[in-house]
Amino acid sequence: MSSGKKPRIFVSREIPSAGLARITQLCEADVWRDPMPPPRETLLERISGCEGVVTMLTEQVDAEFFDAAGPQLNVVSNYAVGYNNIDVGEASRRGVRVGNTPGVLTEATANMAVCLLLAAARRIGEAADYVRSGHWKTWQPMGHIGLDLEGRTLGIVGMGRIGSAVAQRCRGGWNMRVLYHDQRRNEQAERELDATPVDFEVLLAESDFVSVHTVLNDETRGMFDAAAFATMKPTAVFVNTARGPLHIQSDLCGALRNREIFAAGLDVTDPEPIAMDDPLLSLPNCLIVPHIASATVASRNGMAEIAADNLLAGLGGKPLRCPVNPEIN
Ligand code: DGY
Repeated sequence: MSSGKKPRIFVSREIPSAGLARITQLCEADVWRDPMPPPRETLLERISGCEGVVTMLTEQVDAEFFDAAGPQLNVVSNYAVGYNNIDVGEASRRGVRVGNTPGVLTEATANMAVCLLLAAARRIGEAADYVRSGHWKTWQPMGHIGLDLEGRTLGIVGMGRIGSAVAQRCRGGWNMRVLYHDQRRNEQAERELDATPVDFEVLLAESDFVSVHTVLNDETRGMFDAAAFATMKPTAVFVNTARGPLHIQSDLCGALRNREIFAAGLDVTDPEPIAMDDPLLSLPNCLIVPHIASATVASRNGMAEIAADNLLAGLGGKPLRCPVNPEIN
């Protein structure tokens, strides 16, 4: 960045001061402080003339966004590891660098996946509701019986950083057998976790727990459909901490209701927030939390630091710390 005029930037939500303090100090920053995202029209107005924008996964960054911002836009720094909200091809065509925040949320997200896996297996959501609603009258020898984890089979779909961290916990914690499905082999996971690469159908048919960690794109959208759930064991648990559109929600609902699978734990839904009349919300065997996997102090501070580094590097014409389109970085 030059020592002259501060670059104009927009930040679409308040993020931790671990990153925001530097941004507001070094830029002419317009920070949207409302807890709700800016309405689309407002976003398009506020980014007009900006050189950089810090976006959340709630903002669609597409041709309309780039048109509204103008040709001076240098960098879009996404405050997330996932960037399915960004048309990266369009950004590259326009010479706009895009950054994301990988690595710092791996442990927190893996912990959330394991948390949901355990909670769904042990029916924690419905048991807690049972206590709150005053139904707890006595100890029940036949009540609230859930699933065991020891020695069971874990199927990881998407064996990247987060998938590997989940597999590591389940392998070390409960001596689980690990299967995985991914476009790419993960030899480290094969070596260190004894993980076996298998076809998607084999993973579905053999796993007791299926945890999804793949990216959302045209190939993976809706991969967990009625046929996929029908292939799973009736005792299986499905966990999604990646992106809601990876599963077809009505199909998941049908599979849970008809006991084609045992339970589900979701950090993500489609859409977000889930509609209050979505039948999934009425199912006792579905535990849903509001996309909070990265919501820990260390993760969110780390994300803010990387988002600031990406933004400031882009504004200064330097390579981004975590580039999404390195071909133009
Ligand atoms: C991400 O980073 O992609 C998560 O979904 C939100 O932290």
